[in-house]
Amino acid sequence: MKSYIINGPNKAVKGEINISGAKNSCLPLMAASILFKRKVILKNVPFVKDVLTMKDLLISLGAKVELIREKKIIKITNNKRHKLVVPYNLVSTMRAGVLTMGPLLARYPKNKIKVALGGGCALGIRDTSWHLSGFKSLGAVNTLSKGYVNIYSKNGLKGNIYKFPKVTVTGSSNLIMASVLISGEHIIKNISIEPEVKDLIKFLNNSGAKIKFIGKRSIKIIGVHDLIDGEHTIIGDRIEAFSYLCVGAATNGRIKVKNINPNYLNAELNILKKIGYKIVMNHNSIILSHGKRLKPVSIKTGPWPQFATDNMPILLAVLTQVPGKSMIEETIFSNRFMAVPELKRMGAKISIKKNKAFIIGQKKLKSADCISSDLRTTFSIILGAISAEGSSTISRIYHGLRGYENLSTKLKKLGIKIKLKNNV
Ligand code: EPU
Repeated sequence: MKSYIINGPNKAVKGEINISGAKNSCLPLMAASILFKRKVILKNVPFVKDVLTMKDLLISLGAKVELIREKKIIKITNNKRHKLVVPYNLVSTMRAGVLTMGPLLARYPKNKIKVALGGGCALGIRDTSWHLSGFKSLGAVNTLSKGYVNIYSKNGLKGNIYKFPKVTVTGSSNLIMASVLISGEHIIKNISIEPEVKDLIKFLNNSGAKIKFIGKRSIKIIGVHDLIDGEHTIIGDRIEAFSYLCVGAATNGRIKVKNINPNYLNAELNILKKIGYKIVMNHNSIILSHGKRLKPVSIKTGPWPQFATDNMPILLAVLTQVPGKSMIEETIFSNRFMAVPELKRMGAKISIKKNKAFIIGQKKLKSADCISSDLRTTFSIILGAISAEGSSTISRIYHGLRGYENLSTKLKKLGIKIKLKNNV
């Protein structure tokens, strides 16, 4: 197992980072390739572990996948009949595997498709019942057997109307993909409007799908017979961009992130400005520099355009360096404060009451040996270690490598003293 050793404190970190393509855009786009009989080409691909797991999943279903790492390209061909089983070993390591359910259903509506249910996850309960009720609205029934959902539609998928009870990101993408080849038209209400979902819609529409917004969170999908050649450049990763901006924030430095549309991060950038950081936004880049007087803040996570739950653990680490009492309310996942015990071991003063964390900032952090337990927690602990005095070890960094491309290389480029250790 690999660990990072970080020697802190790093003060006033300065530099530029090229942001990779968004993992949470790439995964549904890869799954969407199942809808195409012709080759799909994805550009600006982040070669992170989850993307490689999705590649393995597509190959296990029968797709041909070509990786061209140096050009950040993936080519996927789905011209052969697929195996209609999505195995547990791949869904349990990456929940986004469930995203293959919608496109498989669209392509083989009358066949029984077996998809392993993902079970629990570090972030809390991650149900898929809204995905299934969305498919039901199209006429697909499902049964559960030995941990697998069997799903099919005796008479094929037909357009209808469905409203998600609450916003779900992969649920929205799954139902959109299931709907593009139906007969008739499907109306979906209360969908996620996360930039990654809009990226999927853009890709599908450019490939011949007919998806139209008929309200802020409502779309109408008119089924088409076939999709034409699919080629798409993935948007920049807003979570990665925010993470690196926060290296500047936590250390009183100056960071520029490139290849990112600042509009994806409006809520987050407003919070950073409210704390007192200087933010300069350009067409496709953002610069954060340190302000003179920093103030504590209160924030609440929510579906886009609100503050992203994925960015919350990152901000939490920054707030340990901001004077005064800050508050964070988490509204999406039941177990999203896993960085807290690790940051507390470094000396941070944080208390949790239900879904709220209260942070008393500017306690001096000291190095500690920490264990990472999920993707965004890894970066939060890294920020703690960068701010702390001494040498910290962070183990189980494979969580971080699921979603941050070239993590230690990018941190080193900023001057962070980080070393990779291979544990026996
Ligand atoms: N939910 C249900 N039933 C459902 C679906 C969702 O109760 O059928 C609940 C979930 O349990 C959760 C809430 O709805 O409490 C929102 O979950 P959502 O479905 O939106 O999450 P997701 O689609 O599984 C995606 C991202 C996550 C990100 C969340 C929230 C991908 C591949 N994953 O997950 O990203 O945190 O949206 O924005 O897009 C990450 O990248 O680290 C990550 C975890």
